[in-house]
Formats: sequence, structure tokens, C-alpha cells
Amino acid sequence: MQISKASEAVGAIVEDVDLTSLSDDQFSKIRQTFFESGALFFRDQKLSPEDHIIFAERWNDIDINRFFTSVEGYPQIAKVLKEPDQDVNIGGGWHTDHSYDEIPAMGSILYALEIPPSGGDTLFAGMHAAYEALDDAMKTRLEGLKARHGNAHIFGKDSAYQKKFGGRFGNTESAVQEAIHPVVLSHPETGAKGLYVNPGFTLNIVDMAEEESKALLAELYAHISQPEFHFRLQWEEGMLAMWDNRSTWHYALNDYQGHRRYLNRITVAGVPLH
Ligand code: SIN
Repeated sequence: MQISKASEAVGAIVEDVDLTSLSDDQFSKIRQTFFESGALFFRDQKLSPEDHIIFAERWNDIDINRFFTSVEGYPQIAKVLKEPDQDVNIGGGWHTDHSYDEIPAMGSILYALEIPPSGGDTLFAGMHAAYEALDDAMKTRLEGLKARHGNAHIFGKDSAYQKKFGGRFGNTESAVQEAIHPVVLSHPETGAKGLYVNPGFTLNIVDMAEEESKALLAELYAHISQPEFHFRLQWEEGMLAMWDNRSTWHYALNDYQGHRRYLNRITVAGVPLH
């Protein structure tokens, strides 16, 4: 097994490994690299839905997504699917999964089954690198701040996204989760500090006037949007990507109209954040 950096700020590429037959030593190295780098990319995997579930359960319990359509017979596996006649994709903007939950999912494990002939890449951003690059004044300003996250504006039945999305999300009446988390998170496994706000689900900074909160979030988002914090993944069928939702953002590009793109996603449970 060989491991190399995907980019300076985020991710690692793991080669010469079969995820259906990982030894404990290999898994332990993969786990450590995952928490340090924020994302892992494996090419040429042949995974049945059962293999995908077994790999996910090696990390922790599965945190079933309430809104995505699941694979028939496998409620643990969410379909990330866009058909040729659909315009809007899942995850087509910077976000991190499940930050609206009290205990957000640790990570997401996405396995590529059908990839368009071109396009459909996913961008990743590294929150530790982005935090470290802030100046001291901003780091001091962020100390002790908390942010409110929610999902009604995305998955709720009357949300603009659900309408644009052609009503494809289920369970929309249960899209009422809100949670408060630190703006700067000490990673639960490594202790490394990273930014934990995202344009998809963060609603506002707690105990801050609305205009100031908007301006601060906009400043942080502009900072994180700089390409030096990113990696762009070009998918191949059989590729598996997994990312740590506590230390990365991701963004699924929607530049393959008229083509099918289909991946299966399992979300793995996390731990309380401090
Ligand atoms: C997601 O946001 O989970 C989907 C990512 C992708 O389709 O690349």
C-alpha cells in the first residue's frame, strides 16, 4: 500500500490496496492518514453494497441520511444520482455533510458506479490549512464563537433547493434539525484546529448581530474559497472517496448536463464536538 498527498491542504491518495481485504495494520495506517489529511481517495475498487457497508462499519456505526433515496434493500446506502434529464445535482455548492446534527457524521464514503464522460469532478477544501492561514487577529476574534447550523432551507419541503431539485428529497417534514457548534473546532481525533462553518448549512454566528454575522461568515468563506486550500478529484468508475466532515468541505460540480452520474454514499456516525 502506498500513500501520497493529494494536495498540500487536503487529502491523500492510497494505492495498491483492496478495501475488501484490509489487514488491521493497513486499516490503522489508513485511519491515521484520514484524520490527518481530511480525505482519502482509492482507485480501482470492486465493492458490492455489502462490501461498502462492511468497510464503513469498520469506522463506526452508520448514520443513515434521512433525505436521500436509498439503494433498494440497503437503507444504509444513499444514492447520489443525477439522471441525464435532471438539471440539479446533489451537493452542488460548498458544504460539509450533516453539520446540522447535534452529533454530526464523522465522514462520508462515496463509491463511484457511473461517471459522465467528462465533468462531474468534486472539489475538496481543507479546514485545518484554512484555519492555520488566518492572521492572528482573526484567530483571536474567532476564539469561543459558536455558530448555528440547520437543514430546513435545503431539505425542507418548501425550500427553494427541494423545488429546484424536483422534489427528489424524501422525509422533508423532518428537516427541522438545528445544532450549535464551535466556529473553530479542535478535531476530536487529532486535536488540530480547523474552521467549522460552511455555506450549505451554517445559518449564523450565535450572539452576534445579523449583519456582523453575515459579514464574518462571508469573510471566512472567501478565505476558504482560495484554491491553495483545495483538491479537485476527477472521478473514475470504481473509485472510492471518503472525507472527514469535521475538517473538510466538498463541492460536487454540475457540469455534465445530459449525462448520468451515479455514486453510492454511506455516512458514518461521529462524536460530540467541542
Ligand atoms: C455529496 O455532497 O455528498 C456529493 C458529492 C459528489 O457527488 O461528488
